[in-house]
Amino acid sequence: MRHQNILVIGGSGFIGGHVVAALARDGRRITVPTRRREAGKRLILLPTVEVVAADIRDDATLARLVAGKDAVINLVGILHGDSKAFEAAHVDLPRRIVAACIAAGVPRLLHMSALGASAQGASMYLRSKAGGEAVVEQAGDAAQPALAVTIFRPSVVFGRDDRFLNLFATMQRWLPLIPLAKADAQFQPVSVLDVADAFAVTLDDDESFSRTYELTGPRIYTLAELVRIAGSYRPGAVGRPRAILPLPDALGRLQAAFLEFAPGPTLMSRDNFDSMKTANIATGSYAGLADLDIVPTPLEQDASVYLAGKSRRSHLDHLRHDAHP
Ligand SMILES: NC(=O)c1ccc[n+]([C@@H]2O[C@H](COP(=O)([O-])OP(=O)(O)OC[C@H]3O[C@@H](n4cnc5c(N)ncnc54)[C@H](OP(=O)(O)O)[C@@H]3O)[C@@H](O)[C@H]2O)c1
Repeated sequence: MRHQNILVIGGSGFIGGHVVAALARDGRRITVPTRRREAGKRLILLPTVEVVAADIRDDATLARLVAGKDAVINLVGILHGDSKAFEAAHVDLPRRIVAACIAAGVPRLLHMSALGASAQGASMYLRSKAGGEAVVEQAGDAAQPALAVTIFRPSVVFGRDDRFLNLFATMQRWLPLIPLAKADAQFQPVSVLDVADAFAVTLDDDESFSRTYELTGPRIYTLAELVRIAGSYRPGAVGRPRAILPLPDALGRLQAAFLEFAPGPTLMSRDNFDSMKTANIATGSYAGLADLDIVPTPLEQDASVYLAGKSRRSHLDHLRHDAHP
């Protein structure tokens, strides 16, 4: 079955923009609800995309949005908050989305989780992501599926507008030395374009029903290596990353606590520190990009272009290009 009318919840975010562009490229009709219309502004010029101001935390609004859709994609996630906030965004919301899909007869749900999600995970983020997976898996129970579900678990995601490599590149413009918690934490970064392709490719593929995919890139890096790469390509100082000062864990967690309570947007929290206690790399226990015939993009190939700011094309131009390659 071709799923043509798609609701992309969380479609206004970093990954959402690319998922929506990939779906638009395939000629699908996409609705993106956002609590802040401003956040969805960059999507409205894409063909076949409708951005609506709506708060999906309201049951009646959610029911109205899923009605008549062929598929729902849930990309909502938060990195910071207390246990109540993690539970609401990562467990209660998926439960409400599943219920709304079943009530409206929507046959397909794609759900974004995270690599390392586990009920025994070291952080609220990883434990709550596991709670969300459990809710979605239950709905897609292969014995008697109420919904055809697919779950995705990416490692850290990189791309032009990411908040990971770009943040480390920006920090190195201002700081002569980077004091780094969990410098030896392992990641297997995956391109946002490959993540978006994985969503687009699996949407109509019944082999992906009731399956979980780990989305990872071609190489494993330590956090220190990634910070060095980000610094190597920063504008005006290519090839000259700042020195890194690895912090012992006690000091690293203290730094995380300081950043958690510092004014302005939260850059790091104790929960993020706890997430890094587990290697963020493919376990091999699940399917991956290779099963979808997607060749993972090397990080250096992409990052060298967008971190150095060599491309003058705006973000909107890039999304448009993704939609009409
Ligand atoms: N980025 C990564 O490296 C990475 C790695 C692994 C997993 N993931 C997962 O991938 C998903 C997307 O990540 P992202 O980086 O694209 O996130 P993002 O840029 O922060 O976007 C999050 C989206 O979720 C919505 N949202 C956030 N909190 C919400 C809430 N409490 N209620 C309703 N909507 C809410 C936002 O919509 P509004 O427009 O309404 O604000 C926004 O569209 C998340 O589930 C994340 O956990 C990301």
